[in-house]
Amino acid sequence: MGCGKGEYTIALAEKNPDKNFIGIDIKGARFWRGAKTALENDMNNVAFIRTQIELVDYIFAENEVSEIWITFPDPQIKYKRTKHRMTNSEFLKKYHGILNSEGVVNLKTDSEFMHGYTLGLLHGEGHEILHANHDVYKNVYSPEEVTGTQTFYEKQYLEIGKPITYIKFKLNY
Ligand SMILES: C[S@@+](CC[C@H](N)C(=O)[O-])C[C@H]1O[C@@H](n2cnc3c(N)ncnc32)[C@H](O)[C@@H]1O
Repeated sequence: MGCGKGEYTIALAEKNPDKNFIGIDIKGARFWRGAKTALENDMNNVAFIRTQIELVDYIFAENEVSEIWITFPDPQIKYKRTKHRMTNSEFLKKYHGILNSEGVVNLKTDSEFMHGYTLGLLHGEGHEILHANHDVYKNVYSPEEVTGTQTFYEKQYLEIGKPITYIKFKLNY
């Protein structure tokens, strides 16, 4: 969700050739990079969709999705921007609507605000936190899929020494 250049879409698709991966972003020019890589490497398990995440429940059927990755979303810190925050209550409901019963959501961010907001919301709404990590590169328990791929934004944050956080969760309603 908000795949940017599509680094995660491509990396996960390369590692899991038996599964399909779809990058979604409102800016087509951003995922042009990922789409070009997929074509150049004859990858047949990658697609990109240019649309708003707000419409994700019109794109996928119930139970169609087994995993969602959200990497470095805009934290939308101002109160008035809450509705655009990609882990707000409304977005979580939409994700739940398309995920299968075992489906999980992964959030990787440099934003302490986004990390804390999401943890608080998950706790408050009774969802299941499967993994939470305040600094993925300093934690030996970080999964390889979290530390093995760095997006365009992540590289910029790492260069200025920001810790990268991670949450993996399952939505329960
Ligand atoms: C800060 S960038 C992160 C890009 C990428 N995930 C990364 O880690 O490099 C946020 C991305 O989310 C996209 N985005 C923000 N709000 C969106 C929305 N409502 N629907 C679709 N894409 C959105 C932006 O176009 C942008 O590419």
